[in-house]
Amino acid sequence: MTYVASPKRYKDMQYRRCGKSGLKFPAVSLGLWHNFGDVDVTDNFRKILHLAFDSGITHFDLANNYGPPPGSAEENFGRILKQDFSAYRDEMIISSKAGYTMWDGPYGDWGSKKYLVASLDQSLKRMGLDYVDIFYHHRPDPETPLEETMGALDLIVRQGKALYAGISNYPADEAAKAIDILRQLGTPCLIHQPKYSMFERWVEGGLLDVLAAEGVGCIPFSPLAQGMLTNKYLHGIPDDSRAAKATGFLQTSQLTAKRLEKIKKLDALAKQRGQTLAQMALSWILKNSRVTSVLIGASKPEQLSDSLKCLDNIVFSSEELAKIEAILK
Ligand SMILES: NC(=O)c1ccc[n+]([C@@H]2O[C@H](COP(=O)([O-])OP(=O)(O)OC[C@H]3O[C@@H](n4cnc5c(N)ncnc54)[C@H](OP(=O)(O)O)[C@@H]3O)[C@@H](O)[C@H]2O)c1
Repeated sequence: MTYVASPKRYKDMQYRRCGKSGLKFPAVSLGLWHNFGDVDVTDNFRKILHLAFDSGITHFDLANNYGPPPGSAEENFGRILKQDFSAYRDEMIISSKAGYTMWDGPYGDWGSKKYLVASLDQSLKRMGLDYVDIFYHHRPDPETPLEETMGALDLIVRQGKALYAGISNYPADEAAKAIDILRQLGTPCLIHQPKYSMFERWVEGGLLDVLAAEGVGCIPFSPLAQGMLTNKYLHGIPDDSRAAKATGFLQTSQLTAKRLEKIKKLDALAKQRGQTLAQMALSWILKNSRVTSVLIGASKPEQLSDSLKCLDNIVFSSEELAKIEAILK
């Protein structure tokens, strides 16, 4: 089957400027952390990628360690890129990262220049790309000087191996320092990728303010709390869910009775708004203009279709917001 992108692909998506940069992101971006590894089904993830691009999703987020096994999501994505998307490379924002354990020994983890430069070279080979659009440092390194890690990002951008630099999982104070160093080096920080959902709200305690003040974009990951903020766990744990899979990062212990009670109440509120819970959870993040894009995952094309409809209603009344706060308390 030859893939030809839908001519209507830019019709329904909204695009938001990333901080004070020239780059716009789709309001919904697709991440390849789960569901695109060698343990997954090629036909299924190929369909997800086609649907995403046909729906105006231009941003695809990867990392060196995505799989399993680590590296296989980049390899699989690279294969489909070559097969189906080579005519569309300039319509895509492709990101990768390094910062978590990738290979044995002292140079395959954390934030040294040695690790970041080698890791991106490996990622480019796996994806068959000359450059990524964004390269992130995946998590702060308590031992390597921030100047070295940010210096590595600056080097990589100057070498043309990435167009923009980003950081992920940095707390507000370290993010501010990293942003400052990158600015002094002449490679402004494009974007920060933090975990943010109705169940994980640490970014509201300072990070969003720092990013807004510095003109840096924000792309929250796991906005559905890995699937908990959907209706899928309301009646038990489905066999094909992330919580049930041996390779899934979501632990069943996170689905406590208290949490399920909140999910049930949020689900009822979503219905009143004419949305599914997944849609409401994403709309709730996108109502904030400081957010550039929500970075979702999907294990089936149908999930992606469902989630994308969040864009139909991203406005909340103050009464709805108060109800959500009361449920989440
Ligand atoms: N920077 C970092 O440290 C970091 C960390 C984690 C993730 N990320 C990025 O963020 C991306 C998204 O993370 P995530 O996959 O945890 O995001 P998520 O959107 O919170 O969860 C996605 C999962 O929720 C379920 N789901 C999605 N849409 C659904 C729907 N409409 N109805 C029912 N279930 C639905 C699916 O799980 P089932 O398998 O149960 O169907 C899907 O795989 C990753 O791919 C990665 O790019 C970054």
